[in-house]
Amino acid sequence: VHDLQGRDFLDFADFSAAELQQLLDLSIELKQKHKAGVPYRPLAGKTLGMIFEKASTRTRVSFEVAMNQLGGQAMFLSGRDTQIGRGEPLPDTARVLSRYLDGVMIRTFGHESVIEFAHYATVPVINGLTDLHHPCQVLADVLTLWEKKGKVQGLTVTYIGDGNNMANSWLIAAPKFGINLRIATPQGYECDPQVVEQAQKLAAEHGTELLLTHDPVAAVTDTDMIYTDVWASMGQEEEQKLREQHFAAYQVNQELVAHAKPDYLFMHCLPAHRGEEVTAEVIDGPNSVIFDEAENRLHVQKAIIVATMA
Ligand code: CP
Ligand code: NVA
Repeated sequence: VHDLQGRDFLDFADFSAAELQQLLDLSIELKQKHKAGVPYRPLAGKTLGMIFEKASTRTRVSFEVAMNQLGGQAMFLSGRDTQIGRGEPLPDTARVLSRYLDGVMIRTFGHESVIEFAHYATVPVINGLTDLHHPCQVLADVLTLWEKKGKVQGLTVTYIGDGNNMANSWLIAAPKFGINLRIATPQGYECDPQVVEQAQKLAAEHGTELLLTHDPVAAVTDTDMIYTDVWASMGQEEEQKLREQHFAAYQVNQELVAHAKPDYLFMHCLPAHRGEEVTAEVIDGPNSVIFDEAENRLHVQKAIIVATMA
């Protein structure tokens, strides 16, 4: 058993395959406990601060509920209403908040800000989404895949769309879980080159396949799972119209998914735009598991909190 107490959860790169498997196993255990109605309150008396510099429905609610269920409390801190929004230096904020809180979740723009905050904080810091990574979401996705397929190792996951935070986190997670990954992006919207380089090394090390392409059909052919995300992420709203043109050929629709295995799963981190990155027919269709996926945010985050902060 790996001791993860005191660790930050910023990026899958910081965790070994065995440590990630342990988090997944703990998620499953905590979910079963919760469904069986067994109270489990190892966070009694502890507080998680949650700094949001971007909007959120799932992350905010699931972290707050996670802390409640674990016997602790969560505190919502909007970037705008704290001194962060008036320019108080992050290193000061991190050191001050560490004197009150037992852990901090941050959702912000630059990934460097979370790294800087974690460097100065003396309590665990959890990445609740940056422009570069969204590891809590991908851990929930992997849990959902495991529940639906009974295993994850050797399966093929296809991501269609923007080479954004979701795609980048999948790049690092997939090889560590033994998952083959294919990513199809439009020209000019590829994943972060440094993350790709890391992923190529990891794929070679773990013996998994990694395909980066501009051809969505090649990426979905015989795949076990299709994943997509919005074309314009938070902070890119002004690019929406331009992106609609560049991404038009990357819509996940009935014609595209016909190339996947018949029992393929459809996932989306949500929020989704029906008629843009995915048709209503696909996202509301029989292969879609988006609400189980969203629920699993709660269970994996409880595992992350227990493992690092209990
Ligand atoms: N998937 C996700 O992180 O959703 P929110 O933006 O609603 O938190
Ligand atoms: N790529 C999206 C994910 C939202 C959960 C964004 O960053 O806005």
